[in-house]
Amino acid sequence: MSDEKWRILVVDDEETLANFIVKNITQDNLDYDVRVAHTGNDALKIIEGFKPHLILEDIRLPDMNGIEILKAAKALDPDVQVIMMTAYASLESSVEALKAGAYDYLIKPFKVETLKNVIKNALGKRKLQEENRRLLSELQKLNRELSIANEKLKLAKADVDKKLEEKIKRLSVLHTWSDKLSSELSIDSLIPLIVEGAKEVADKGDCALLLKENGAFEVKEVSGFDNLINKAERLDLRTQEEPYVIKYEEGEIKEVIIIPLETKEEIIGAIMIGNREDSTLEEEKDELSIYGNHAAISIQNALLFKKLERSYIESLMALVKATEAKDPSLRGHSQRVSELAVKLAKELGLNQEEIKYIRYGALLHDVGKIGIREYILEKPGTLSREEMEIMKEHIKIGEEILKPIAFLKPVLPYIRYHHENYDGSGYPEGLKGEEIPLGAQIISICDVYDAITNERSYADRMTKEEALNLIKNLKGKKFKPEIVDVFIKMMGGF
Ligand SMILES: [Fe+2]
Repeated sequence: MSDEKWRILVVDDEETLANFIVKNITQDNLDYDVRVAHTGNDALKIIEGFKPHLILEDIRLPDMNGIEILKAAKALDPDVQVIMMTAYASLESSVEALKAGAYDYLIKPFKVETLKNVIKNALGKRKLQEENRRLLSELQKLNRELSIANEKLKLAKADVDKKLEEKIKRLSVLHTWSDKLSSELSIDSLIPLIVEGAKEVADKGDCALLLKENGAFEVKEVSGFDNLINKAERLDLRTQEEPYVIKYEEGEIKEVIIIPLETKEEIIGAIMIGNREDSTLEEEKDELSIYGNHAAISIQNALLFKKLERSYIESLMALVKATEAKDPSLRGHSQRVSELAVKLAKELGLNQEEIKYIRYGALLHDVGKIGIREYILEKPGTLSREEMEIMKEHIKIGEEILKPIAFLKPVLPYIRYHHENYDGSGYPEGLKGEEIPLGAQIISICDVYDAITNERSYADRMTKEEALNLIKNLKGKKFKPEIVDVFIKMMGGF
């Protein structure tokens, strides 16, 4: 109820009383719009259209009981206020009326003042009820809005949680790969590892590693990327510090991100990652840039390590050469054994890492001879038993020389066991068959072949054919049969 008038319906079969009521309640109150009904049926019709706020009705009407009207009116509008009028002070009917929802009842005859007060109070209650209902509805609306907002918040939080989880997962992949890269010191193993890691960090299948050589980018390793090598030449690989995305129209690949590999001094190369999806790699620049930094540092470290390794080997080779210089027949022996052993290791299908250590092992197998007295090294003819025991010491001396050098640890067994025989008759431990490390067996056969085919102080030089025959005869005795077969075939023998 705001600006509209209070609608009041008076229901009484006594016309005079009805008119009296209307006159009295409207004379000093312009806010009341009052209608009158003299029968129950009339009243019901008016209620439907007029929608009264308050009904003042006689409890007994000619055509129906006032309680029926009250119930019908309440069914249409639960807030309607009903005041019953009765000529009989019947407690029973009054209680019934109140039970059915009447606001109050008046016993005829009543004073005008009493009537006015009851009406005023009933309308006051009605107003309060309407206000309550309005507030309740507003509260419900607010609650609904709050619940929608809550729901939205929940969804937004779930979205943030999911994004955060993905980010953590990606950072963890990045961290794992950065660790893997920094612990790989061999440049040959590092290059494919960088490509593998970049694919996982970016979660993409097309990746390539390019290194700068003589001012140009050379593709060193590629995975996926059909026709990349031709394409890379045409790509405008700029020399800049941050990753950048370029359009790439080749097959299904839509764009490529170039991640420069930068050291303190210069850009040494780049990682290229192809994207076949509609999303862009722009958003992953930061993580890929971190990965690129790790890759660049790892490459630099591996190259430094390689340089360091080389300088160690060169220093050790000086020792070997000093020994070889004592006996002219030994000159160049270690270098030749090394070349032969690498060739044999390749024939036997060993991997790059194993081949590298076989090369070092072969170069250094006799480094311990530096500690053997010259007269034994240079003695023509066979050594006495005592001299032979001294000669055997070169293995231990060699091990002692190389032991402090960490990167040569895998080489130590090759030095120690290069005089073991397949049948267990060798030294220092008399190892048999597969007990002898493969590298030591490879070095051993190449060592013997080179020694017997070159000038020696204690025996004549053999021809290649004689040497291969001798080696064949030692098959299963000094040497492992399969290695003998591969060696003879490799040397172009029978
Ligand atoms: Fe030796």
